[in-house]
This record gives sequence, structure tokens and C-alpha cells, in this order.
Amino acid sequence: MAALKYAGMDDTDSEDELPPGWEERSTKDGWVYYANHEEMKTQWEHPKTGKKKRCAGALPYGWEQETDDKGQVFYVDHINKRTTYFDPRQAFTVEDMQVKPKRYDGNTTALEILQDCDLSDKVVVITGANSGIGFETARSFALHGAHVILACRNQSRAIKAVSLITDEWRKARVEAMTLDLASLRSVREFAEIFKARKLPLHILVCNAAVCTQPWNLTEDGLETTFQICHLGHFYLVELLQDVLRHSTPARVVVVSSESHRFTDLVDSCGKVEPNLLSPPQKEYWSMLAYNRAKLCNILFSSELHRRMSPHGVTCNALHPGNMMYTSIHRSWWLMTLLFTFARPFTKSMQQGAATTVYCAVAPELEGIGGMYFNNCFRCLPSPQAQDPTAAVNLWELSERLIQERSTPPQVL
Ligand SMILES: NC(=O)c1ccc[n+]([C@@H]2O[C@H](COP(=O)([O-])OP(=O)(O)OC[C@H]3O[C@@H](n4cnc5c(N)ncnc54)[C@H](OP(=O)(O)O)[C@@H]3O)[C@@H](O)[C@H]2O)c1
Repeated sequence: MAALKYAGMDDTDSEDELPPGWEERSTKDGWVYYANHEEMKTQWEHPKTGKKKRCAGALPYGWEQETDDKGQVFYVDHINKRTTYFDPRQAFTVEDMQVKPKRYDGNTTALEILQDCDLSDKVVVITGANSGIGFETARSFALHGAHVILACRNQSRAIKAVSLITDEWRKARVEAMTLDLASLRSVREFAEIFKARKLPLHILVCNAAVCTQPWNLTEDGLETTFQICHLGHFYLVELLQDVLRHSTPARVVVVSSESHRFTDLVDSCGKVEPNLLSPPQKEYWSMLAYNRAKLCNILFSSELHRRMSPHGVTCNALHPGNMMYTSIHRSWWLMTLLFTFARPFTKSMQQGAATTVYCAVAPELEGIGGMYFNNCFRCLPSPQAQDPTAAVNLWELSERLIQERSTPPQVL
């Protein structure tokens, strides 16, 4: 109040008014602190609002800061020929909103990232959330209050996952919905049911994947790994994009893999080759199909960010960790053997979910996207994954495939 009076602004907002016995002061460099004369203590937080403040801008014209014999700072108003111990800048304080980014690494767990995070106003959809990294991501969000929807192809496995979370915290808002990414019809049905519920969607995690599957065509006539890992997610985001736009700031997180580095997708003319995405059986090698699908994930993420960020929806891709013992290896005995040997040296699933959670909630990533993360740290993906022409090309090709293969019900 005294500072306001000196600045000629006696009017005040009652929330900011100090309780009796308190005094607002500021340091030489403009940080506001509060002194309690009865308890002889000082603190940075406002005793009523708990907010930290700092003085905005310089001293008013004609004022000067000086120090007395006891080392205490005082202020001289040369125009009105008066002195005061109150900093006149305190009339123009602003809330200290500086958020210092926390440091994380490969050992960080998803729950550590979410410490102090209240997600009770967030709706999250996670694909393939009944096991592995998707499950740990869902569990972590749910334990922090988010309304989490596990979008899974197998209902009994999904319901089991839901009960594991609710057994841990009875009040967790978590539920399962059917989504089979290998079927464009199923993706469309999921989107229709979700939209009919009129829920917002703040975080969409494209996590589901299969690896080292034998060659198989989906009901839409496309190679399974490609459709589950990329095209199904592409269609899902396309169908939910209006919900995301109405829920801003919203984030899409795409779980890719470092294995995207061991392949390419473009032909000699720099065009994405459709036969590489969904190859015929004689040209199929399961590991290569997975690597290509993971490359698609990064290209999709950066193009999605380019298109959606002007509307408040950002997107990042990530690598969760190496050879974590989830269910990803189950289609091939050799992979199971490798994953078993590697198990003592790899991340836990909580650690595996950390980068996903980081991309979904880190305050320093607000409005930021089109990037690739590993161990909660930004890194560069392969040169081809950074190619904007390939990203546009893949986008257009995916749109074409969806148009050709999906047959939405006729509107009468
Ligand atoms: N584990 C690793 O070391 C590792 C390394 C790099 C990247 N990643 C990536 O991490 C992500 C999660 O994998 P994970 O390791 O946690 O493997 P996971 O335990 O096998 O989880 C994959 C999830 O995807 C689901 N899924 C498979 N096909 C689906 C479909 N058609 N429709 C809907 N959901 C489907 C699976 O459901 P079902 O249980 O019904 O099959 C499962 O819940 C993947 O994107 C993977 O590429 C993992």
C-alpha cells in the first residue's frame, strides 16, 4: 500500500492486500519479499496468495536507488524532494512465472516427471495402452488425476489393465475403448463413439505397434505393421483433429524408435515409394517393415505439427528406450531371446514411459513441436526423418490410401 501511495496509485486489489503485521519489501535487484514483524521472519511468497513477485521495469523518472550507512537500500525522489525505504517499483510488480525446466535423463521415471502435476482437467487417449510402455503411460497419467482412455484392440486385456490401475487408486478415472488400428472401420467407429461423448482431448499418445510380424494383409488390403504403426494412427488423428483443435493447448505424442535410422523410404527421385510402405509378401522382411513404420512415425509427427500448430495442437515424436522387456518381442522367438538377455541392462517400463510423458506435459514444450526426443532430451533423427518433402509426400500418400480404402457409411 505504501509503495502504491508513493507511486500515486493508492488503489489496490484486495487479494494482494497483506495481513496485519506483514510488510512488502524488495531486494536491490527488484525481487519482492515479505517481512513479518511479529514473527521476525521473511519469505519470498505472498502470505495470502503464495505467489512470488518481482518488480517490472526500472525506477520511475526522477527516482534513484541509494544505500544508507547500515547498508539498507532507500529511494530518493528528486522531483518531489523526498526519500523512502519503499521501492516505488513495487507498484508495478508482476508474478514470477519463470519456470525452470527440470533436468531428466534415461533413469528418470514417468512418475518422477509428473511430480506436483495435477492433470485432473485433462483427457488423455493412449493407443495400445493395455501393456508395456502404453500401460505405464496410462497408469502414470491416471495416478495424477487425468481422465485416461485406453484405446485397445483386445477388450479383455484392456479391462484387465484398467482394473490394475483402479486397484492401485480407486478414484482413478480410467476406462477402455475398443480400437483396432489394423482396421480403418474400427478406427472410424472409435472416433465416432469418442466424439459422441463430447469430451475434450488434450493429449493423444500414438503408442501402439507390432514388431516382427509375419507378412499379413489387413482387412483393408495393406501390410499389417504399416497399417497398425502408421496408417491407423494417421486416420485416428485425422478423425479427431477437430476435437484436438477445440481442446487447445493440445498435444499429440508419437512413439517411434531409434530403429527408424536403419532404413529409408524414398526412391531415387526423392519420393516416398508406396511399395516400401506396404510391400508384397516376396519383398517383405518383418524387421525392415517395423523400421520403416517407425520412420513414418517421425515424418508424420513433424508434418502434423506443421499443419496443426497454428491451431494450438503440437506434436513430437520420441524413442522410449532400447529393448525394454514389454510384449513387443512376442512374435519372433529370436527377438524374445534377445530381449531376455538384454533385460537386466535395459530401462524399466516406468523409465520407458518417461519420454512419452515428458513430451505430453513438460511446460517448456508448450507450443513446441516437430521434434524428436530420446531420454527426455531433444536429438536429431536420421537425415531422411528430417526431410520435409518426404514428410509432405508421406502425408499425401496416407491421405490417398485412406480415401481409397475407407468406405464411410453413406449419409442419407
Ligand atoms: N520395447 C522397446 O524396447 C521399444 C523400443 C523402441 C520403441 N518402442 C515402441 O514403444 C511403443 C510401445 O511398445 P511396447 O514396447 O510397450 O510393446 P507392447 O507391450 O507390445 O505394446 C504394444 C501395444 O500395442 C497394441 N497393439 C498392437 N496391435 C494393435 C492394433 N491393431 N490396434 C490397437 N493396438 C494394438 C498391443 O495390444 P495387444 O496386447 O492387444 O497386442 C499393445 O498394447 C511402440 O510404438 C514401440 O514401437 C518400444
